[in-house]
Amino acid sequence: MKHLQNRKLRLNSEEETRALGLEIADALEPGDIIALIGDLGTGKTALTKYIAEGLGIKEEISSPTFTIVKEYRSGRLPLYHFDVYRLGSGEELLDIGAEDMLDGDGVCVIEWADIAADVLPADSLVVKLDYGDSDDSRFAEIL
Ligand SMILES: Nc1ncnc2c1ncn2[C@@H]1O[C@H](COP(=O)(O)OP(=O)(O)O)[C@@H](O)[C@H]1O
Ligand SMILES: [Mg+2]
Repeated sequence: MKHLQNRKLRLNSEEETRALGLEIADALEPGDIIALIGDLGTGKTALTKYIAEGLGIKEEISSPTFTIVKEYRSGRLPLYHFDVYRLGSGEELLDIGAEDMLDGDGVCVIEWADIAADVLPADSLVVKLDYGDSDDSRFAEIL
């Protein structure tokens, strides 16, 4: 995933967000963690959907706000999609048994990852999303 890092992108439409998701998906390897940071509506779930599409996942992706994590196994790699908005800390993420998923052979995509940053590995791919200057544009900074 290294080649994706240190980029700042202007995503002019949802289609460009999809292209980024597909590009990320192509680069994913077992054990990779993607930390998504950005306010409500900046496109964290949308980007996750397109990463899932790129992995060949057939199921519909829906926000795991109430379950914290949903698992998808129909793609090239298992995907664990987290939304940790309702958690207070990284420790609470470990309390719900996330360690096996974070250390496993699947891929973790974590919405609101700043909340749990203290327990995420330093080599996670951090994607910061922000609103753009029109309804359909967003900024993405990949760290
Ligand atoms: N360029 C874009 N990238 C991502 N989403 C976009 C874009 N333009 C418009 N949208 C819309 O913004 C909304 C993002 O919502 P969502 O992905 O649920 O955000 P979050 O998970 O960050 O709260 C969706 O309704 C999506 O269709
Ligand atoms: Mg979301």
